[in-house]
Amino acid sequence: MNPDEPQTSENQASDLRRDLRLVDAVGVGLGAIIGAGIFVVTGVAADVAGPAFLIGLLIAGVAATCNALSSAELAATYPQSGGTYEYGYRLLNPAFGFSAGWMFLASKLAAGGTVALGFGGYFSQIFPAVPARYAAVGAAVLLTFANLFGIKKAGRFNTIIVSLTLLTLLYFVISGIPSFDINNLQPFAPKGFSGIAESAALLFFAYTGYARIATLGEEVHEPEKTIPRAVIITIVVSVVLYIAVALIAVGAVGANILASSSSPLQEASRVFTLPGVFWIVGIGAATAMLGVLLSQIVGISRMMFAMARRNDLPRVLEHTNSKYAVPDYGILLGGFVIVLLSIFGTIQFVIAAAAFTILLYYGIANIAALKLAAENKLYPKWIAVVGLFSCFLLAISLRLTVILTGLGVLIVGFILRFIFQKLNN
Ligand code: ALA
Repeated sequence: MNPDEPQTSENQASDLRRDLRLVDAVGVGLGAIIGAGIFVVTGVAADVAGPAFLIGLLIAGVAATCNALSSAELAATYPQSGGTYEYGYRLLNPAFGFSAGWMFLASKLAAGGTVALGFGGYFSQIFPAVPARYAAVGAAVLLTFANLFGIKKAGRFNTIIVSLTLLTLLYFVISGIPSFDINNLQPFAPKGFSGIAESAALLFFAYTGYARIATLGEEVHEPEKTIPRAVIITIVVSVVLYIAVALIAVGAVGANILASSSSPLQEASRVFTLPGVFWIVGIGAATAMLGVLLSQIVGISRMMFAMARRNDLPRVLEHTNSKYAVPDYGILLGGFVIVLLSIFGTIQFVIAAAAFTILLYYGIANIAALKLAAENKLYPKWIAVVGLFSCFLLAISLRLTVILTGLGVLIVGFILRFIFQKLNN
C-alpha cells in the first residue's frame, strides 16, 4: 500500500457532504477566528508589551496572512479533510504529517478550553449568579451536541453568531472613537522588543481558525476555487477589524487597564458615552466565543476523522453518523476533553500552549507549501518563507515552560501513535 495515501476508499472520503459555498466558508472562517483572541488575549498582550501590543497585532497579522496563503494554496491542491496533516503526509513525510495533526489537536483542544473559560467569564458578568466554570462547561456540552446535528445546522447557527459578533465590534469601534486619547498610548513600549515579540506570538492565537476552512475540504462546493478565496477574505477582514478594535480600546483606557481585566473590551467600554456598550460587548463576546467553540469542535472532530483513517488514531474515530454525516465519535471525544479543560484549566497557560502548538502546525504547513509542484503554486515562494520564519520566531518568543510543554505533548503523541499502531497489527 502506498504510505502517501490514506487507508480508505474514496467512498469513505466522500461520506461528508459537499454543501458549503463561499459565503458559508467565510462565515465558518470568521466564526472560527473572532473569539477569545480579541475579547480576552488583548488584555494579556497589553500586559506583556504595553500599547506596543498594537505592533504585535500587526506582526501576528502579517504572519497569519502568509500562513493563510500557504494553507490556501495547499488546500486548493489537496481539498481533503485534514489540512496540514494531509499536506505533511503527501508532500513531506509521515512524521511531519503526524506532528501537524497532533499539534492541531493539542492546539484546538487547548484553545477550546480557553474559549470555553473566556465565555464563562463574560457570561458570569452578564449573569452573576452563574459561576464562570459552570457556564464554561455548559457551553462545551451544548456545542458538542450542536455539532452532532450536522454541519448544515451548525453552519446556520454559526452565521447568526458571526453576524452578531461583527455588529458588536463595529458598535464598539464607532462608540469608542470620541474617547480615543493619544496620551493613553504612552509609554508605548515599556517592555521593549521582547515584549512586542511575545505579544505577537500570543496574538497569533487571535487569527487562528482560518485553517478551519482548509479542513472543510470535503464539505465545500468547488473547493479548488472556494477555499483560497474564503481564506483570503476571512483573514483580511480579521486583520482590519482587530487593529481598529485594539486601537480604540487602548486609546480609550490605556494598556494597564486592559491588562488588569479578564474582559478588556468590556472594561474599555465603561468610558464610552454611547448607550449600552458594556452590555452589548458582553453579549457579543459571549456569542463570539460560542461561535469559535462550535468551529473548534468541528475542526477537532474532522482532524480526528482524517487521522483515524490513516491509523494515526484509533480507527473508531473514523465513524460517521448515518443520518447527519458527521464524525460523531470524534465530536464526543473532543467535547469531552474541552469539558475537562474547562473544569481544570487556567486561561493564561492554555492560551500560550495553544499559540505554541499552532505555530508548529503552521511551520509545517509552510514547509509543505515550499514543496508544492510549480504548477500548483498560486503565490510566490517568499510568502511561505516569511510564513515559516515568522512561525519559528514567534514560537521561540514564548516562555520556556510553554515551549517545553508543547514539545513534551508532541513526544507523548508519537509514543501513543506507536502504541495504537502496535495494537492494530
Ligand atoms: N482565533 C480564535 C479566538 O480568538 C481561536 O478565539
